[in-house]
Amino acid sequence: MSLLPIVIAPDRRLKTACKPVEQIDDAISTMMQNMLETMYDAPGIGLAAPQIGSNVRLIVVDVAREGQDKQPYCMVNPEITWKSDEIIMMNEGCLSLPDIFVDIERPEQIRVSFLDEKEETQELEADGLLARCILHEIDHLDGVLHVDYLSRIKRELILRKLSKLKPTLMAERAERHAS
Ligand code: NI
Repeated sequence: MSLLPIVIAPDRRLKTACKPVEQIDDAISTMMQNMLETMYDAPGIGLAAPQIGSNVRLIVVDVAREGQDKQPYCMVNPEITWKSDEIIMMNEGCLSLPDIFVDIERPEQIRVSFLDEKEETQELEADGLLARCILHEIDHLDGVLHVDYLSRIKRELILRKLSKLKPTLMAERAERHAS
């Protein structure tokens, strides 16, 4: 298992729609494990394949709090099959946009169907932070970032700032992993 470098915005790999996974082979299984490890290390509560530079529909999520048992989900080809009418506002961060937080309104409750690591179809009902995290990660699979919910002017300002900070951010992460 290994830690993978996380792609930082702006990057065209974060703006591409991903392809469905056809088969959960060894390469996909390894990618799931590496993505979970990378997410826990960051630390974060969700990670999508494009954030590690891969163009496939795969996300990992774990919203368990520190000190709680881990509750990892690996979701292949996730699809939202139902959304509640109730909408709530939550503040979202993203490992690809360090220190950028955006208030976004999304459905409070969802149902999501996906293939699990054993290639079995699962359906999960989620609400609160878990629902929020799944919706955020599925957005990534369609090339959508949390800053895309902002006005163009705000988004461009943030991306320009990140673009300048990127070499420093990447050097900091590399240094942390080397030590
Ligand atoms: Ni994200």
